Amino acid sequence: MFLTDVYVVMAALTFGCFVTTAFKDRRVPVDIHVSRVMLKNVDDFTGPRERSDLGFITFDLSADLQPIFDWNVKQLFLYMSAEYATKSNALNQVVLWDKIVLRGENTKLNLRDTKSKYFFFDDGNGLRANKNITLSLSWNVVPNAGILPLVAGSGHISLPFPESYEATRSY
Ligand SMILES: *[C@@H]1O[C@H](CO)[C@@H](O)[C@H](O)[C@H]1NC(C)=O
Repeated sequence: MFLTDVYVVMAALTFGCFVTTAFKDRRVPVDIHVSRVMLKNVDDFTGPRERSDLGFITFDLSADLQPIFDWNVKQLFLYMSAEYATKSNALNQVVLWDKIVLRGENTKLNLRDTKSKYFFFDDGNGLRANKNITLSLSWNVVPNAGILPLVAGSGHISLPFPESYEATRSY
């Protein structure tokens, strides 16, 4: 066998791996519970407004990620995002937390009283008294071969934010 044939065979094998896993459903149920939200109004040196809203979220999260992992999955990049509407934007999206789960690591997520990792910052006052802030968990699948889709977990939570600053709201 010529060297080029070896390459062709290897490429075909890799492509085969990709095809058999590319269309697999990689959603799993996700359970998100928010226990506390605290809201502050802080100086904003970046925008035209003088003060902006900053939210602090404490949440529980559970999901069994095992069904996502097959032989073509190297790692998952999980992230929790918040979506909400304000007067100036129909859709705002902010990433609050993320985590990498490697193949072979514990695939049962069971987080309690976890704090958001990144600032939940609105460049205005769109968080205070917002009636509908939606949190959801999504993941990028990092494969051994090919490209796999971005997946939104099935499970999200929508909640109203506090009416006033510096007050902690429990849910
Ligand atoms: C809350 O927002 C989400 C997405 O941002 C939307 O799907 C949902 O319908 C909204 N719920 C209400 C009660 O407006």
